Order: sequence, then C-alpha cells, then structure tokens
Amino acid sequence: MTTTPSSPTTPAQLPPSLVATLPGHYYTDRETFRQEQERVFETMWFCAVRSADLEKPGAFRTVQIGRESVLITRSRTGELRAFLNICRHRGARLCTEESGEVRRNLQCPYHAWTYDLDGKLVAAPNLTRMPDVDRTTYGLVKVALREWLGYAWVCLADEPPSFEETVMGATIERLGDVASIERYRTEGLALGKRITYDVKANWKLIVENFMECYHCATIHPELTDVLPEFADGYAAQYFVGHGAEFGEGVEGFTVDGTEGFGRLDGIADDQDRRYYAITVRPQVFINLVPDHVIMHRMFPMAEDRTVVECDWLYAPDVIDSGADISKSVELFHRVNVQDFDACERTQPAMSSRAYRSGGVLVPSEHHISAFHHWLTQKLSPEDGPGSTGNS
Ligand code: FES
Ligand code: FE
Repeated sequence: MTTTPSSPTTPAQLPPSLVATLPGHYYTDRETFRQEQERVFETMWFCAVRSADLEKPGAFRTVQIGRESVLITRSRTGELRAFLNICRHRGARLCTEESGEVRRNLQCPYHAWTYDLDGKLVAAPNLTRMPDVDRTTYGLVKVALREWLGYAWVCLADEPPSFEETVMGATIERLGDVASIERYRTEGLALGKRITYDVKANWKLIVENFMECYHCATIHPELTDVLPEFADGYAAQYFVGHGAEFGEGVEGFTVDGTEGFGRLDGIADDQDRRYYAITVRPQVFINLVPDHVIMHRMFPMAEDRTVVECDWLYAPDVIDSGADISKSVELFHRVNVQDFDACERTQPAMSSRAYRSGGVLVPSEHHISAFHHWLTQKLSPEDGPGSTGNS
C-alpha cells in the first residue's frame, strides 16, 4: 500500500485554540533581514554598550547596528558619544577594531584625517591649504545616544522615537512602573562576567524563545528546580505579573539553588525571592533577581546568525571581595546554552517545506503573535524606514 504525504497545514486550517507562527521564510530570507535592518534596527533605540566598559576618555567600542557600524567613545569631558564609524573623506572605516582606546584623537588609517572625541575634524594632511574643507561640516556623523540602566542606547533614526515610551515603556508594561527596575540600580553594579554567544539562528527565534516558557520543563532542568512554576510552561513576564517565585528550600538564584549574595540595596520586599524577565524590543532581555541582574544584548548579524552578549552584574562589594560567583553565573549560562542550542536546532528547519506555512502557537505561547504582529507592521510599507514606529 502506498501512502501519499500529507500537505503542510496552512494557518487557515488551524483549530481556534491555536495561532500560526510566521512562515519559515521570515527566518531565512536575506531580503526580509535587510528590511528588518532598515526598518527595525536602524529606526529604534538599540542597546549598544555598557557605559562602564568605556571608562576613560578615548575608550571606544564599535557595534554593528542594522547595516551600519557605529562607534561609541568617551569624550574628554566624560560624556559618551556615538558616530557612524565612517571617515568623511573617502569613506574608510575609521576604527577597525571592535574596542580599544585612543590617546587624544581618532585617526583614519587611510589618509590620516583626524577627528577629536567630539567628532570634529581637527587635522588632515595639507588641511590648511584646503580652505573649503570645513572642520565641523566634515566632522563625523553623530548618532543619538541615551544612557539608562548603565548602558548606552543609540538610535540611527533622524528623528528618534520617544525613549520613555519605547524603551522605558516596555519595562512599565511588565513591572507596572519604571521605579521597579530602577530600584536594582543597575548603573552602579559591577560586571562579574560577560559571555558572548555566537548563535547560528535568526534573531526572531531567540526573541520568541525568550518570550515563552513552554520549553522550560523540557530543556531547563536547573532553572525549573529554582523556579518550579516555570515547569507549568507559563512565561514569567506575561503570565506571572508578580515575577516567578523561588521554590521552597531554594536559597538563591544559583545552579544548585544554594545561597547567592545579599539582596541588592533598594529593591522592595515584594521583589525578594523572585525572578522578573523583561523583553525590550528589538534586542534586549533583562533578567532581575534579588542579588544580581542579567542583561542580554542581541546583535543580529545575518538572517541566520545572531551574536548575544550577556552580562552578569553584581553589587560592587561582591566583585571587590573576590567572591566566587561561578554557581550564580552557571545557572543562566546553562539556560543560555540550552536556549541557543534549541534555536540552532530550529533554524535549519525554517527552510523546510514542512514550515512553509509556519508552525503553531499553543495557548501559553499566544502572546508571541503580538511580536509577529508588531514585526509585520514594522515591515509593511506604511510603516516605512522614516517612521519612528511604536515600541
Ligand atoms: Fe579617511 Fe581618506 S578615507 S582619510
Ligand atoms: Fe529558555
């Protein structure tokens, strides 16, 4: 007897309790990724760098945002500045290193045009004999920058959207107010550990994964031991408005549930022994626990590749004392590896005919469709590249 392969289910055929995901090509198509670069990453506030990484004047870091390389530096007067990392002369990339420090100025490696740390053109070979080259006009192109939670957020849009509405608004939506996150005083915390993950998956798979906990019982045994309610599959930031409570007998947010560190100054009693997760579109995940904060920044590099920088932040006295933070770091490092492995397993299947019409979202994942709706709106022609969009 021969069997005929059944055709893939189309979204229209889904029963009412199920919702369709985006079709597979959204995760594999180069043109879609290019549109996301233009209409999402180049129009929204993008969390680029931890402010304290650029401690001294002259320290710089370059980051890929959409199709642009953005250079962030600390000026002589101590402020952070952001510029397009492009020399105004003939367009050479100004800083070719990912990070570093210059003594006074930024000098182009091509013909040696030289800019000060405020972006002004201050020297060039034969500049005095070229009166038409105005030093300000031919300065570096500035990019909008805001500091919040100890990070520099930059926006490539000519008219950046409201930071309060789009960035702070995401935390208000999850926590009820902005004070609840500012109480962790993230800007005063010290970096205990940074791990950079090079994930061979589309950025949206990583966002979707972070937004749901339907997978928690299957792939996160250590996390569900610490947060037993996660085993039910309901994501903390959507269904557990109060934050997910530590299990009975769990002493701290560590890989084996043993004691962590003292509660951070300033957090409220009702924030103790709880985990909060916040997604700030398009590329930030914030995780709050009583004794540390974990910040994920995603850098979408290609339709099938995303670099994720994850910072573990502690009270400065914990780091200064040389305390062993390994059990604390290990918990979310395992979660990251488990999540990113799952995303990498999913990525190749996105181009399969089985996923041509997408997959399904079960009820505990329905909120992910809001992300899909938001994205497809951003990519629609009415919400064009000049649009500052919504959150
Ligand atoms: Fe930079 Fe010529 S391209 S100095
Ligand atoms: Fe997960």
